[in-house]
Amino acid sequence: MHQIHVTRRYRFCAAHRLHTDHLTPKENQVIFGKCNNPNGHGHNYAVLVTVRHDGSDEAGSLARLDHIVNETVVRRFDHQDLNGDKEFAHRTTTGENLVKLIWDLLEAKLPSGQLEKVGVIETRDNYFEYAGPAQLIGGARG
Ligand code: NI
Repeated sequence: MHQIHVTRRYRFCAAHRLHTDHLTPKENQVIFGKCNNPNGHGHNYAVLVTVRHDGSDEAGSLARLDHIVNETVVRRFDHQDLNGDKEFAHRTTTGENLVKLIWDLLEAKLPSGQLEKVGVIETRDNYFEYAGPAQLIGGARG
């Protein structure tokens, strides 16, 4: 059986502000710089979703993937303020947290074992990638 990896690209536009209530306003400003601007700012995010499949019914499986990603990710975040999303009530809207959230949302919807990697392009120079929690190989240690 062929093991093929396919990556599809999706897009959404969203606003956010890097800020945490765990820090003082001054500390937030020092750590996040202009990304802490109270009025927020926007990004044209690109999401790269990599899945593995056996090569059969490629058109059908990609159509299903598109449907799931559009319903689960694009529709949820497009033209929204990420800071207003319930999943970010207690987490900062960093690229690291966003890519993990998108992974979790897709992992819950896709057939088990199909999701391989999620990438989020936030700006020209910022790319975040997540391939799921680290697996312990070999079991017991020490
Ligand atoms: Ni930003």
